[in-house]
Amino acid sequence: MAKLKFGDVEENVVTREEFPLEKAQEILKDEVVAVIGYGVQGPGQALNQKENGINVIVGQRPNSKSWDKAVNDGFVPGETLFEIEEALERGTIICYLLSDAAQIKLWPTVKKHLTKGKALYFSHGFGITYREQTGIIPPADVDVFLVAPKGSGTSLRRMFLQGRGLNSSYAIFQDATGRAIERVVSLGIAIGSGYLFETDFKKEVFSDLTGERGTLMGAIQGIFAAQFEVLRKRGHSPSEAFNETVEELTQSLMPLVAENGMDWMYANCSTTAQRGALDWWKKFRDATLPVFNELYDSVAAGKESQRSIDSNSQPDYREKLNAELAELRDSEMWQAGRTVRSLRPENQGQQEQHAGSEKQGQEVVTEA
Ligand SMILES: NC(=O)c1ccc[n+]([C@@H]2O[C@H](COP(=O)([O-])OP(=O)(O)OC[C@H]3O[C@@H](n4cnc5c(N)ncnc54)[C@H](OP(=O)(O)O)[C@@H]3O)[C@@H](O)[C@H]2O)c1
Repeated sequence: MAKLKFGDVEENVVTREEFPLEKAQEILKDEVVAVIGYGVQGPGQALNQKENGINVIVGQRPNSKSWDKAVNDGFVPGETLFEIEEALERGTIICYLLSDAAQIKLWPTVKKHLTKGKALYFSHGFGITYREQTGIIPPADVDVFLVAPKGSGTSLRRMFLQGRGLNSSYAIFQDATGRAIERVVSLGIAIGSGYLFETDFKKEVFSDLTGERGTLMGAIQGIFAAQFEVLRKRGHSPSEAFNETVEELTQSLMPLVAENGMDWMYANCSTTAQRGALDWWKKFRDATLPVFNELYDSVAAGKESQRSIDSNSQPDYREKLNAELAELRDSEMWQAGRTVRSLRPENQGQQEQHAGSEKQGQEVVTEA
């Protein structure tokens, strides 16, 4: 295992160089890996493993689009594609890739098939960390571990097809067989991870829930909305407010940050922009720090998980979600975004499609 140094902190990292695919194939040669669920992660992980020479089967409820997708992707009913319970019976490693809410619902069925020596694999620390809330308490004689790809199942698959690997974290919750480490690392390599970073279940879920509520999704929308409102109230047009809030960030600046860090992006901007950004970033940090601490406390106290379990188990969950997404989509800021995006050369002459969107927003009228 390689060590990666971050200042004074050392982390365990597994690479494909030191743990090649052939080693993973050898370790997994007598296993049947049952991927339960063919939603977003299921296809990426199952197909990558299959093409990496692992004995993989899929368990999916029938009469669904996901079942049809598995068939279209080459899984054969009765041979490599089964109803969930049959796949659970056949699998020696159970990759539990249903949605987090469905994992709670199906748990009694899964538990029944977790016989001695099998392994239970997750791609998120949620079910185990919040086991008081989810009821997911595995028997003591099975291995329990996770590999969490740091990105969508779609990216995992795309990068695999390009010969690249997506970074993942891995963790062991329970080592009943003494083989948990070799099993989990082999699976991490087999699903197409590039680097595998060691963590534990609790840290994986706490950082994940904080990140998505914070800078990755929640905080960024909040900051966008606040700046857009100020610019609009001070008399700026929707396009000007949108361009200075979102478009320039996503199109021009974030790719520079991704390439070489924030200082590199600053270094590539005007001296006026640099001075302002360097003067103001700490003010924004200080203003949001208490909110991030409140958020982390809420995650650690199990309030965020409970809220997510409660809302995702409502029968009208989808309708309510769609209504909330429509509210965002129909806001002046994102309607302005729609119009601005339609001006991009690649979108000229095309109408953007949004399921459930009734409002057409501002249209671009070009003079002949
Ligand atoms: N999305 C990501 O890219 C991502 C990234 C990292 C980690 N993860 C983790 O990976 C795991 C899987 O997430 P995902 O996003 O791939 O899940 P998802 O797309 O929401 O998974 C849906 C799967 O669950 C099945 N399902 C839903 N309700 C069911 C029920 N009541 N009974 C039986 N099957 C049911 C669906 O079948 P139907 O199609 O028939 O409804 C489908 O196979 C989660 O733990 C998640 O946190 C996801």
